[in-house]
Amino acid sequence: MHILAIDQGTTSSRAIVFDETGRAVAVAQREFPQHYPAAGWVEHDPEDIWTSTVACVREVLERAGDRVGAIGLTNQRETTVVWDRRTGKPLHNAIVWQDRRTAELCRGLRETGVEAEVTARSGLIVDPYFSATKAAWILDHVDGARLRAQQGDLCFGTVDSFLIWRMTGGRVHATDATNACRTALFNIRTQDWDDGLCEVFRVPRAMLPEVKDSAADFGTTDPEVFGTALPILGVAGDQQAAAMGQACFEPGTIKSTYGTGCFVILNTGDTPLFSQNRLLTTVCWRLKGVPTYAVEGSIFVSGAAVQWLRDKLGLVRSAAETEALAASLPDNRGVYLVPAFTGLGAPHWVPEARGALSGLTRDTGRAEIVRATLEAVAYQTRDLFEAMAQDGMRPQTLRVDGGMAVNGWLMQFLADTLDVPVDRPAVTETTALGAAFLAGLQAGVFADLADVARRWRLDARFTPAMAADTRRRNLEGWDKAVGRVASSR
Ligand code: G3P
Repeated sequence: MHILAIDQGTTSSRAIVFDETGRAVAVAQREFPQHYPAAGWVEHDPEDIWTSTVACVREVLERAGDRVGAIGLTNQRETTVVWDRRTGKPLHNAIVWQDRRTAELCRGLRETGVEAEVTARSGLIVDPYFSATKAAWILDHVDGARLRAQQGDLCFGTVDSFLIWRMTGGRVHATDATNACRTALFNIRTQDWDDGLCEVFRVPRAMLPEVKDSAADFGTTDPEVFGTALPILGVAGDQQAAAMGQACFEPGTIKSTYGTGCFVILNTGDTPLFSQNRLLTTVCWRLKGVPTYAVEGSIFVSGAAVQWLRDKLGLVRSAAETEALAASLPDNRGVYLVPAFTGLGAPHWVPEARGALSGLTRDTGRAEIVRATLEAVAYQTRDLFEAMAQDGMRPQTLRVDGGMAVNGWLMQFLADTLDVPVDRPAVTETTALGAAFLAGLQAGVFADLADVARRWRLDARFTPAMAADTRRRNLEGWDKAVGRVASSR
């Protein structure tokens, strides 16, 4: 049986058909518009999310649909949609995970002293990143919405939930535990919505979806939608799906995905570990009712900074050009970019911070700025590793994936900066692959996680080779640069 994976990401929707060996046999992708209605605000039109997804799925099903027997769905997390339960029409644009409009609201909540309790229950911190304050914002700003939500007339959902609703013709309002745990309304110990958290964030429980395992029956697609009825059997947030696609099944295994942002997930097994250094505790996946937990470090901008170099500064025509430009310099010449375009995520968590370029001289040119942009990706990953080390976790290797993992210079610089070997797998479409694995587990295509793990193949290992002095000098410069940005709120 082939499996159709839908990967609904921040800048594009994708559909990939995988065969039983985990090989992609058909791929389709559609970018969709981003909306920035005010400084620090980011929105998507849910209809764009929907139509781009349907178009991709229809395209791959036409090309390679014969043997597809199930759907696995993965998605940008935290992004919040509120829609009318009767008509399926969204009340407002989706508020995207990067959106900072609730920074003030979060500061107010932190000042009331609720954060410790929020963390103990949800594993998260109080930050605009998570869905709860975004949902509350919609309820507070759309006329009559709060009352309608209390009466059960509105549905809240992360993007998976919205797509499941639409794909099943409005029959199923569900999500999985990995997406639920990113809302700040879900109790990661009881594995259920938490009334106390709903009260803190003022989100009525009546609008929340049913929470299922990551491999489960999420209903069957309405034949009108894709021209065929297919069961949806796997759902996970994109970063947890990537951890599954990277076969990070043993406690202590770790992956880092370099997409729009960068997300590091460390499997901690059946125990939720709580960081003392502002990392998040999250559900890695839930199978047969049993959650596996992870510690996560979330960085908001990595690939997005290269997009910025290309689209706003015009310094490169394509992301691929950055590799040779960075390699053309013997060192960074003291130039640092802190890409806090949408605030700083882990471990700093400063939503009000904004980006900065420092160390400029009259010699500074295109190559220095490009190199500083790539180096920032490695330094931010190192900040997460540092926080993990302070929490007593010292990973021995790192598995990487996402668009930027193809950049060999960056992967070597990452290994040098972390002083840990970096492994790049043969299939870097790990997010979609992870969703396909989940659906395949539920469909019985794969017997168990060991069966899945056998499909992971190494493409290249990058071994640390940088002199300790150089590493120390680089990091001193970065620590100063990021320190200035973090304290400039
Ligand atoms: O938490 C946000 C994350 O899920 C977004 O992932 O790949 O769309 O940048 P991506």
